[in-house]
Amino acid sequence: MRKIGVAGAGTMGAGIAIVGVRAGFETVLFDLQGAALERARSQIEAFLQASVRKKKLTEQQADAALGRLQCSPSISELAECDLVIEAVFEDLAVKIDLFRKLDGLCPESTILATNTSTLSVTEIAGGTGRPDRVVGMHFCLPAQLMKLVEVTPGLITSDETLAKAWALCENLGQEAVQTRDSPGFVLNHFLVPFNNDAIRLVEQAVAEPAEIDRAVKQGLGYPMGPCELLDLIGLDTQIRLCEALYPVTLDPRVAAPPLLRRMVAAGHLGRKSGRGFFDYEGHAMFGAER
Ligand SMILES: NC(=O)c1ccc[n+]([C@@H]2O[C@H](COP(=O)([O-])OP(=O)(O)OC[C@H]3O[C@@H](n4cnc5c(N)ncnc54)[C@H](O)[C@@H]3O)[C@@H](O)[C@H]2O)c1
Repeated sequence: MRKIGVAGAGTMGAGIAIVGVRAGFETVLFDLQGAALERARSQIEAFLQASVRKKKLTEQQADAALGRLQCSPSISELAECDLVIEAVFEDLAVKIDLFRKLDGLCPESTILATNTSTLSVTEIAGGTGRPDRVVGMHFCLPAQLMKLVEVTPGLITSDETLAKAWALCENLGQEAVQTRDSPGFVLNHFLVPFNNDAIRLVEQAVAEPAEIDRAVKQGLGYPMGPCELLDLIGLDTQIRLCEALYPVTLDPRVAAPPLLRRMVAAGHLGRKSGRGFFDYEGHAMFGAER
């Protein structure tokens, strides 16, 4: 594989595009919203510049990486990609519609991968005429810093597709873990209810968000607390994860807490909107400051 596509230039798409260009792949980043593409490009530039300052990349490497990035509001630019990773909203109907379009656009050999956190890879593949060439590739946030990718075959995914997705993870410098096509796979089986528990603790005024985070970091040894993690994930995305998981699990811990809905209604989406549990005015989104 030489050229990969990323559909959706939000929180995850921008990070996955960094992983692609940094590893030497021509990478096309597509989003319907021009503003999302502009934001993603400036975040990617800021991250690569920070990598140079930290001596993780030379200036030439960073320039070459940026030169491999193409941002486009037109889906047709994905037509020549060997593999497309979808990272649009966590909404089954939106993903099925996009996969149907990609299926009509891309050559037969192109593998279509989904970065879904909670939805069924098999159901997403069902919208295409190539379910054997559809696979789950769930990157973790922030993709450019976290190594894990959950690789998930759907019921009809071929062994060849699985092997190619696995090899791509290796070539991207990521670490693949195989899971079955099950709601939330491994990571979000833990993470969605855990994060909702933190929101309920805030809701019940058991502790302030900063105190909850401090307790979790100091007591459990986690690098981030759940409130700062939720602000990075995006509270709007957390609602979508709950809405995808609850109907299929009926687990009350994954039902969206009322406080989460109120915060999203107020526009407090986390880092992406400048405010969530904490205030981020003037801070870079993508860990460029790390
Ligand atoms: N945020 C996280 O922590 C996280 C982690 C791992 C996986 N994911 C998964 O990644 C996917 C994206 O999540 P996110 O947090 O980046 O969302 P986001 O809301 O930050 O970004 C989604 C982007 O998709 C674009 N989009 C929506 N419909 C589109 C379409 N039909 N065609 C092209 N672009 C379209 C939007 O304009 C937006 O820019 C979801 O499936 C989510 O479950 C998210």
